[in-house]
Amino acid sequence: MIALSLAEIAAAVGGQTHDIPDSSVQVTGPVVRDSREVVPGSLFAAFVGERVDGHDYAPAVVEAGAAAVLASRPVGVPAIVVDDVQTALGALARHVVARLGTTLVALTGSAGKTSTKDLIAQVLQRKAPTVWTPGSLNNEIGLPLTALSATEETRFLVLEMGARGIGHIRYLAELTPPKIGLVLNVGTAHIGEFGGREQIAQAKGELVEALPPAEEGGAAILNADDPLVRAMASRTKAKVVLFGESDEADVRAENVRLTDTGQPAFSLHTPSGCSDVTMRLYGEHHVSNALAAAAVAHELGMSAEEIATALSEAGSLSRWRMEVTERPDGVTIVNDAYNANPESMRAALRALAAMGQGRRTWAVLGKMAELGDEALAEHDAVGRLAVRLNVSKLVAVGGIEASWLQLGAYNEGSWGEESVHVSDAQAAIDLLRSELRTGDVVLVKASRSVGLESVAQALVETGTEGEVAAR
Ligand SMILES: Nc1ncnc2c1ncn2[C@@H]1O[C@H](COP(=O)(O)OP(=O)(O)OP(=O)(O)O)[C@@H](O)[C@H]1O
Ligand SMILES: [Mg+2]
Repeated sequence: MIALSLAEIAAAVGGQTHDIPDSSVQVTGPVVRDSREVVPGSLFAAFVGERVDGHDYAPAVVEAGAAAVLASRPVGVPAIVVDDVQTALGALARHVVARLGTTLVALTGSAGKTSTKDLIAQVLQRKAPTVWTPGSLNNEIGLPLTALSATEETRFLVLEMGARGIGHIRYLAELTPPKIGLVLNVGTAHIGEFGGREQIAQAKGELVEALPPAEEGGAAILNADDPLVRAMASRTKAKVVLFGESDEADVRAENVRLTDTGQPAFSLHTPSGCSDVTMRLYGEHHVSNALAAAAVAHELGMSAEEIATALSEAGSLSRWRMEVTERPDGVTIVNDAYNANPESMRAALRALAAMGQGRRTWAVLGKMAELGDEALAEHDAVGRLAVRLNVSKLVAVGGIEASWLQLGAYNEGSWGEESVHVSDAQAAIDLLRSELRTGDVVLVKASRSVGLESVAQALVETGTEGEVAAR
């Protein structure tokens, strides 16, 4: 964090100082919530969790060099005591970003936030020092912690905002008010909790409502290809910039194709020029993510050429998202087990089909969570799509949802051993270990709660063992 005195922090969060002999002492290190991350000069935020109470660690963190603890009760060591630590953390983030004058870019959407945030970060980083959300820390705690990691040098702060209900994004946007707000898509992620796509659109659109007007530099970057996102243009005073493959998009892709390795290539068109992109990431869903990143970067003054180069060189910063491993024995494992929803399942299956030309393809799929009433139909549709894309083998892993997947494939014409249902990850590993052969491509994907990355990891390791055994 930028250096701030304990007195200034206490004032910013409306807290009382306790056991602080000298309130002019400065916090010079990071703000952390995990006691193991404390370094000299840190501010330790003590949260009360279900199993552990951060306050119990107060003496240890001060011993380790923390300047003070942000706490909800006195702890016998230097502390700023507040009613609610989470609210105080938010207030501190707001204070710090207001002081810094950094340009804030916030993004939300149903699928692809982290992937796109990582792309934006890699593009903007080429222009000026950029700080971004690590991994998927997109909630009311992760977001302020990320904002607080910005320094005096930080020109761009890129923040992922997640929503599980109405009002969430509005709250996050008040803590760290963005100048540029990007909405990727309105899909079916968390639809069970929201109640429907219109409600999801209502919640995501809070981001563009929070932007400053166009005269003050506010820009709403909206997906022209998604009608519910496109319609958000009427909810903002900011300048509207559209991205997508539609003709009306300001930043668009033409001649979109997947290379035979499953990597997207396209020609990037911006209002100030065109340039060709061939991505290192896998799957056509990244075209939309790349266009979104390009629109943000263009708005911040980068040329089409600079953006295209950055997008072509960008790698994956977050794990288990179309993470491709070539095994020494010629089997390719695609670990996309971080999460799944119907949109990302379709994109991943299409990438598998592109990568698998002339090779045997396996889709090892598990349930997509939180689909409410649409769960049966969506699992059935994914099973059918796997068959239509000519995926050679479908392995559906887990409970009832997996059986709907397998049944969808069966009803689409995938009989016999082409589609199977196994009870759990271990059964999938056993099956694949015995069946995989040189040249096969395996996609592993399901919702986070299924934890199918264990399958992908076991398969990656199997290849290494095989190689050792063969030698
Ligand atoms: N534009 C997109 N459309 C559909 N699926 C996508 C898109 N971009 C990424 N995905 C897929 O969605 C899944 C989640 O990706 P990512 O982590 O980027 O999304 P997220 O919105 O950050 O998710 P979360 O809500 O869990 O934070 C991955 O499996 C990825 O392959
Ligand atoms: Mg995420």
